[in-house]
Amino acid sequence: MTTTRFSCGALRASDAGAAVELSGWVNRRRDHGGLIFIDVRDREGVTQIVFDPQHPSFKDAEHLRNEDVIRVTGTVRARPAGTENAALKTGDVEVGVDSLEILNRSQTPPFQINNDAKVDDNLRLEYRYLDLRRPRMQYNLRMRHRIIKAMRDFLDGRGFLEIETPMLMKSTPEGARDYLVPSRLFPGEFFALPQSPQLLKQILMIAGFGKYMQLARCMRDEDLRADRQPEFTQLDVEMSFVSQEDVLETMESCIRYVWKQCLEIDLPPFPRLTHEESMTRYGVDKPDLRFGLELHDANHVFAGTDFVVFKSVIESGGAIVALRYPNGASLSRRDFDALTDDAKQAGAKGMVWVALGADGVKSSAQKFILDEHVARLRELTAAETGDALLLFADARASALPVAGRMRNLVGARCGLADPAVFSFCWVLDFPYLEVDPETGKKFPAHHPFTSPGPGQWAYLHDEPLKMRAQHYDMVLNGYELGSGSIRIHKPEEQRAIFEMLGMTPQQIEEQFGFFIRALEYGAPPHGGMALGIDRIAMLACGEDNLREVIAFPKTQTARDLMMGSPATVPEQLLRDLYLRSTPPEQPTSR
Ligand code: AMO
Repeated sequence: MTTTRFSCGALRASDAGAAVELSGWVNRRRDHGGLIFIDVRDREGVTQIVFDPQHPSFKDAEHLRNEDVIRVTGTVRARPAGTENAALKTGDVEVGVDSLEILNRSQTPPFQINNDAKVDDNLRLEYRYLDLRRPRMQYNLRMRHRIIKAMRDFLDGRGFLEIETPMLMKSTPEGARDYLVPSRLFPGEFFALPQSPQLLKQILMIAGFGKYMQLARCMRDEDLRADRQPEFTQLDVEMSFVSQEDVLETMESCIRYVWKQCLEIDLPPFPRLTHEESMTRYGVDKPDLRFGLELHDANHVFAGTDFVVFKSVIESGGAIVALRYPNGASLSRRDFDALTDDAKQAGAKGMVWVALGADGVKSSAQKFILDEHVARLRELTAAETGDALLLFADARASALPVAGRMRNLVGARCGLADPAVFSFCWVLDFPYLEVDPETGKKFPAHHPFTSPGPGQWAYLHDEPLKMRAQHYDMVLNGYELGSGSIRIHKPEEQRAIFEMLGMTPQQIEEQFGFFIRALEYGAPPHGGMALGIDRIAMLACGEDNLREVIAFPKTQTARDLMMGSPATVPEQLLRDLYLRSTPPEQPTSR
């Protein structure tokens, strides 16, 4: 009988009697009733193989340890009744071993290769090759592959060309620090690694390509969080002769195709909110729409109040923002104190809570919360007996974001943020500029290549903060998945934006002279967007950290623990690059 090679996830009851060959890692060995049972694992799954004591390879099997690499041949048979394992795809069968070949031995792994083991994150990253053997990581990276393939297929079907742009670039501002690469041939000069291919994709439009896409690797030296890595991948897209609507339609259709292909989910059309609406209703420009809990302006409720905190906020034109906490009345005073601390962490000056208990209303501002306030608050927020209300009073620009952060916290605590639900939306009509609260400096909410909206140029000189941009974000479950805009395509308009941002003609020439010159040679109207592939994969896999969907990610402090980078280099290498390293006295924390 010929022996057929199978993966470890392939065999079924219908294969009984077949002569097979399996290769993989020893997942687990059990010695039981005189027999040795081994689960062999590869990326497709696990198959149980059985060694009979009479068989010559039994002795070798006795010495097999987890993660040894083996190849066996044998015969498939149904498992004895009652010993099937419904949790395994191959759980109805086992392979009686005829031959065993030990291809390699493994050290004892520092952690178990299974999904449930609670393993320290740094240990996982140090031994990433073992961590990646876990079925969960194998699933995640496979899902990432499928997402990227679906994106490529979709855009290819719509006539987009995939064009690579260089890694050794000139700085493109996306709001982070650049990673720099010193030039050996031009002492004292540096390349910047791309924060995004923004300017080059615009130049590809000027070059007449019309529809561009790229799986673009981007590098940004910025503070890291669970949803930020120093190196990440974008689905980068640019199109000529398009309106905002064309870009939204293309990107939304692309994501709908991806969800159908990869998760078998038919997504409904994405709701659209203006930036102003999003801030007012959810306190954030990336709202989590898996749950309601909208914010309410409660200023009118407290008109004429004696409560100084509220009174002074109303008089100074600020806002009292109310948030319902479903079933919050059962929280203890201690719980409310902790919640108040959370609010302070989120930037609140303070928080007033009102518990609508069945046995009466309690509040942290008991004296000032009158029956009429409670009645009006109930009406405003649709709160019911058993709920609590959280009130945040401050300047509108502070009260709303704080209430927005607390809304996310309440949503999570009340179990409303179900990871299996995908709530997409578009946020449109962003302000052109933001102001750095510390320095008071204006900077573009997106980037300076974004076109102001129709009629918005009028504000450029006198009231630039009023300007709205043709800038749009795609949002999923409270995460910004992607950003884009219709671009400026007239050289004089591009120059006017740089000037408004305070750049001198010399700075404009040095940094963007090449780009303005390109705009002077017949740049078509164009626009585009970039989606964060890592964030998309993270959410599609039900994960809450980008590390779970990137094969070799960095730690929170931007280190690679497996390879040990960044690392010092021999003095001679530095000399070749005309560099001298003068690290601080105290090494930075690792
Ligand atoms: P933006 O800077 O908004 O836009 O980036 C687009 C998307 O890329 C993802 N992203 C990140 N993912 C992981 N780690 C990071 N550090 C990180 N930074 C950004 C996010 C984000 O929404 N050139 C413009 C796009 C355009 O205008 O076409 C740009 O890069 O999902």
